[in-house]
Amino acid sequence: MLLKSVILALATATGISQANPIAPRQGPTGNGPFAPAHYTTDSSLSGHTLYLPRNVPQGAKIPVLIWGNGACSANGLDFLNFLTQIASHGVFVISSGSPGGQGSTNAQMMTRAIDWVTRSTTKERYPWLETSRISVSGMSCGGVEAYTAGVNDNRVTTIGIYNSGLLSEQESRNVVPKINKPIFYFMGGLSDIAFNNGERDYRLLPQSTPTWKGNLNVGHGGTYGDQNGGKFGVAAVRYYQWALRGNATAANFFTNNQEANRDGWSVESRSLGNLRVNPI
Ligand SMILES: *[C@@H]1O[C@H](CO)[C@@H](O)[C@H](O)[C@H]1NC(C)=O
Repeated sequence: MLLKSVILALATATGISQANPIAPRQGPTGNGPFAPAHYTTDSSLSGHTLYLPRNVPQGAKIPVLIWGNGACSANGLDFLNFLTQIASHGVFVISSGSPGGQGSTNAQMMTRAIDWVTRSTTKERYPWLETSRISVSGMSCGGVEAYTAGVNDNRVTTIGIYNSGLLSEQESRNVVPKINKPIFYFMGGLSDIAFNNGERDYRLLPQSTPTWKGNLNVGHGGTYGDQNGGKFGVAAVRYYQWALRGNATAANFFTNNQEANRDGWSVESRSLGNLRVNPI
């Protein structure tokens, strides 16, 4: 598949990957209410990287983000700044790929992460987990993985697509019209290699599906490597605050668009009134 290789190649070429793994102590901490966040691993889930608040306050509940990297890279630190920032806002992030890992991921690794996080032995270890709220999301090739792992899995409550879209019109027509769960698109504008794919998917969604699509004219690479993930970090945090944590203030970013427009996002949305999430 030519486009797939282009997406893979571009995601690598745009310098998203951070080649040198940074030891947790020197890494970013995020600036959310649950900061400092950090990354770690758990021996009962091989081939993945976890991002979480270092200390979870008594009584807090932490929902889950399952993440797939650009280029389907198996380095769980490729989105270090971005994912640490999300974790610092009260999200337990499971990235495909171990820290500094090499090779490729696939959608089954996401499903394995969902199996793991919903297991009772995992909940014993992380008692604050709120696994009734799970987003599966990913960038570029990882976005395609997110469709595969997220659309038909009832444990997944919402999907995030970053600089991505399904690769062929046929696939889009087969998959997208059946998506009823909330799905958010964070795209890089006309120069994003995945621009047309994301636009096509957005148009083929059912009218009643809560969806938001923003384009920021930075191209395929987004702003993930900037401090705290830059503008993509801001928008993504709002998405998870709303769709996973039920934060109504964060919802304004999408329903009233003032902040999104100020940041430079061109926005379209539909049926966001159908997205109702109780605060946790
Ligand atoms: C809700 O989201 C807003 C905007 O993102 C943020 O300022 C606020 O701290 C969040 N509230 C909670 C309880 O996390």
